[in-house]
Amino acid sequence: MSGLGLVAKGSAYAAVRSLTGQPPLDASIEIDFEHPEGTVDDGIYGQFIEHLGRAINGGIFDEGSPLSDTAGIRQDVLQKVQGLQPSILRYPGGTFTKIYHWMDGIGPRHERRSRPNLIWGGVEDNHFGTDEAIAYARLLKADAYFAVNMGSGTAEEAGNWVEYCNGTQDTYYANLRRKNGHADPFKVKYWGIGNEEAAGPDIGRLQDVKEFVKEAWLYTKAIKLQDREAKLILCGADDAWNDYVLKEMGPVCDYISMHHYVSSDKQKPASLFPQVDSMEQLILTLKGKIQTHTQEKVTDFSKWFRFPPRNNAVKISIDELGIWEPGGSGAYELEEYYTWDHALGTATFYNIMIRQSAVVGMATWAQTVNVLAPIMTSKTASICQTIYYPMQFYRQHAGNVSLKTAVNTPNLQVPGSKDAKALDIAVTRHDSDGSLVVFGVNRHPALAVKTDLRSIDAKKYKPVAVFELNATAIDAMNTLSHPDKNVVTSTEKKLSGALNDYTFPAHSITAIKYRYIGK
Ligand code: AHR
Repeated sequence: MSGLGLVAKGSAYAAVRSLTGQPPLDASIEIDFEHPEGTVDDGIYGQFIEHLGRAINGGIFDEGSPLSDTAGIRQDVLQKVQGLQPSILRYPGGTFTKIYHWMDGIGPRHERRSRPNLIWGGVEDNHFGTDEAIAYARLLKADAYFAVNMGSGTAEEAGNWVEYCNGTQDTYYANLRRKNGHADPFKVKYWGIGNEEAAGPDIGRLQDVKEFVKEAWLYTKAIKLQDREAKLILCGADDAWNDYVLKEMGPVCDYISMHHYVSSDKQKPASLFPQVDSMEQLILTLKGKIQTHTQEKVTDFSKWFRFPPRNNAVKISIDELGIWEPGGSGAYELEEYYTWDHALGTATFYNIMIRQSAVVGMATWAQTVNVLAPIMTSKTASICQTIYYPMQFYRQHAGNVSLKTAVNTPNLQVPGSKDAKALDIAVTRHDSDGSLVVFGVNRHPALAVKTDLRSIDAKKYKPVAVFELNATAIDAMNTLSHPDKNVVTSTEKKLSGALNDYTFPAHSITAIKYRYIGK
């Protein structure tokens, strides 16, 4: 169980619940229909699995379990992960990449090498490796994103992995893949060069950005010479690190990574939200650095690299995004239960990524199962946590164009918490049919927010439906002790007629859909 401390937090929530019965707060929104912010990249709906605790072994993969198929894939878990329709699957870490040798995890399972998991503890039998990760990504219809070992590994080893996965010629590693039963290349699209390489205490050996860049160039060459189409994610860190990486590696940097974890103060309701909101400023700062240090189109790249530079502008990959409260259970206390306020924070994350879609190109939630995760398992059951539902909601409802929106919203003014806005809004349009979706996250634990919507031209947009996620209480959560009980409610209300305003209920996640009827 997480140390979220329902009892402690419950008493704080009791104070805000006493606000119920007061009139709604007032807000308004203004949408700029003429200057879209950008294309919402499908990549933001990614997931991340690592050889860490029960994320893979005992999570998505459980050989011999009656709930698994003959390949060891937990079918109940698979169904839930599929429900998220992830666009990308990041693997095998995380910090674990720094000790991972991909050749340990290929070929007949009984011949694979067991090793101590020096990063997260326990023994890694490597029964789930490259071939299994690809098979899993295919079951999810997701693109694979592999991160390479810059700790105990080498650039050559990384290049060999690319050849194994994507090689098409009559060569050693490509033939090894064929021998292992995979005639067609895996076409792994994304390759992460390093993970949190600035970190000191773990086994990473680079830490200094100059060291990183020197080494990352070698990895870049080893990977791109094997597959010129490979999209590279270079490891980011603080401002000075990012400056240097972008300056030195801009021409080959498809993405620069950002990791963002948040937590709350269990005594203070709503203390999560300022931390969630801080991601937007971090994105804007990194966006500024990308604009300062890199060209949108690379114009001067030597042919002697023997592979092309990146094709598109540099984007941000938020390849670890999550909620990390202290005091969970399991390996490094990373197994957490999430309450409904965490779901509101999760929805806000997606609003932020939609708003900043001009520069956010992908995000992989850290992590998918059991570790800081939307899905939890026991040997006999699995559940979807509260945070699962907003992930699914945005994937289902968001359009592919982000529209700039100004919101006039009151603050939460919850006693004891740093202040944050009550209502968080993002607006998307579907290019295919012009339809509009207004996402509203009312983070107030007790009060509704009434929002003026008259800036949406009724001659062009007809409101057709409201979808809402909510929960019995802001501190409600799903648990494995009651796997059949779901505290999350999902409702759909058809609309007809005008919608001058909308009242977002307390602690709700809402999508208002409009059909385009203009010319
Ligand atoms: O997601 C858990 C860990 O958090 C990852 O292994 C690491 O990259 C990050 O610090």
